[in-house]
Amino acid sequence: MPFPSHRARRLRATPALRRLVRETRLHPDDLALPLFVIPGRRRCEPVASMPGVCRRSVDQLAPEIEAAAAAGLPAVLLFGLPADKDETGSGAWDPRGPVPMAIREIKRRAPGLAVVTDVCLCAYTRHGHCGVLRRGAIDNDATLPLLARSALCHARAGADLVAPSDMMDGRVGAIRAALDRAGFADTGILSYAVKYASAFYGPFRDAAASAPAHGDRRSHQMDPANVREALREAAADAEEGADLLMVKPALACLDVIRAVREALPLPVAAYSVSGEYAMIKAAAAQGWVDERAVALESLGAMKRAGADVIFTYHALDAARWLAEAGA
Ligand code: PBG
Repeated sequence: MPFPSHRARRLRATPALRRLVRETRLHPDDLALPLFVIPGRRRCEPVASMPGVCRRSVDQLAPEIEAAAAAGLPAVLLFGLPADKDETGSGAWDPRGPVPMAIREIKRRAPGLAVVTDVCLCAYTRHGHCGVLRRGAIDNDATLPLLARSALCHARAGADLVAPSDMMDGRVGAIRAALDRAGFADTGILSYAVKYASAFYGPFRDAAASAPAHGDRRSHQMDPANVREALREAAADAEEGADLLMVKPALACLDVIRAVREALPLPVAAYSVSGEYAMIKAAAAQGWVDERAVALESLGAMKRAGADVIFTYHALDAARWLAEAGA
């Protein structure tokens, strides 16, 4: 044994030594805050299953934007809801829709904040599926131009990164080509490359009113039993021109984050999803766990697994806790 077992204990003996040998550090620079934007004015609707999270109309975004900038967060992620849903999700490319309006508002109030936009049709279609339907099933290839249209609409409004979360095959390539053709070569793509068909998205579907009216998403989202498939998805998206790769959910997929990090040289983002947040909030409200300690430990584990960026509904709290701890 090259290292006698007592050596590790000596290195944990004092706070200074623990700091000295700490391998990973969580920092506000690692965190990004998801925001839900809705049509109308003076609307700020709490999401029951996500305490502390509200769906806001664009005129109510200022406090969140200012808090995110003041906390030193580098980015926010926008989800939009349309005034009206239809069969093709045409609200997803409405230049006067909540997302493009929110992008402009954020760029005006906090020009230093990067804006990432979720690109998917599920919140915009009446049936709640992520693409257009043909005979009851999603038509992958017919959906691609619509996703590209939505991404282009966000790029025109000033998005820094568009984040396709629909999981259609070929959408990264289709979006990249559309952006380049329209002169948005500098708009990046954060691909939800590895997105499992997860039960942890439950509270989000309340927030985004995006639960499918019939069926589920298992035809295009991944089976949580698979990890080699995750690497194929990630490699395909990298090949098609993704700039960052997302793994989602996060806490149940730490091994996948690690595998993607090791397989590809692109930055890896982890999405700590609504169900992860809701579980911590619910247990903390009962006094069963310490919210701050559990949230920071979970986010730290995502960092240790290899995430470069973490999307979390705890981003503002976590940034404050880290600042208080002198991180
Ligand atoms: C789809 C999308 C979902 C989430 C992000 N983008 C929901 C889904 O696939 O059903 C989930 C995020 C969360 O649970 O926090 N546009």
